[in-house]
Amino acid sequence: MTTLTWYGHATLGLETGGQHILVDPFFSGNPSATISPDKVKADFILVTHGHGDHVGDTVAIAKRTGALVISNFEIATWLGNQGVQTHGQHLGGGYRHPFGYLKLTLALHGSALPDGSYGGNPAGFLLTTNDGKKIYLAGDTGLFGDMKLIGEEGLDLAVIPIGDNFTMGPEDALRAVKLLTPKVVIPIHFGTWGLIDQDPAAWAARVEKETAARAVVLKPGEVFEF
Ligand code: NI
Ligand code: MN
Repeated sequence: MTTLTWYGHATLGLETGGQHILVDPFFSGNPSATISPDKVKADFILVTHGHGDHVGDTVAIAKRTGALVISNFEIATWLGNQGVQTHGQHLGGGYRHPFGYLKLTLALHGSALPDGSYGGNPAGFLLTTNDGKKIYLAGDTGLFGDMKLIGEEGLDLAVIPIGDNFTMGPEDALRAVKLLTPKVVIPIHFGTWGLIDQDPAAWAARVEKETAARAVVLKPGEVFEF
């Protein structure tokens, strides 16, 4: 069984095969976070790109838990220099980790690190769990046509931003669902601040009317089981 918890903004907790995987662990300063970075469990941490609302509490949590941090090579190097255990990958490259096969995917965005260091190219993640579930985490991105190629892998779940301004907004996110054709889609990266406020229920209704996907809107702290 696999569960996904949304901690608000772009912060996710995946539990699969008994492993705890945190994605973009932004708790300190995240107004929708429902758990303290001192309490959250992590065996692995995935970081999509270098922005502060995604790198977040990675260093503190990795040091407390001993979690292995997986990101692009530039971010992995930057984190490694701070005493964190890392595994660097890059766009298009996959690796078999204990929790499944993880591939880095294209994302259209920036990736400068909080101290201004170069953070390489931003990424999304395509995870195939050990029991064969395909999960696409888009990261911060605009719409791109190659989402069709990602969809061809056969997605059980896609987690995509809908907040607009910094990422896809609702219109482009709906077009993304049409390219990705996932069984289930979960919207994130909205509502954290006024600038990215959206109506996720209205978006979900449009998704279910215009595509075959089921749209699941989580509240921060809520868990989706699949
Ligand atoms: Ni960003
Ligand atoms: Mn962001």
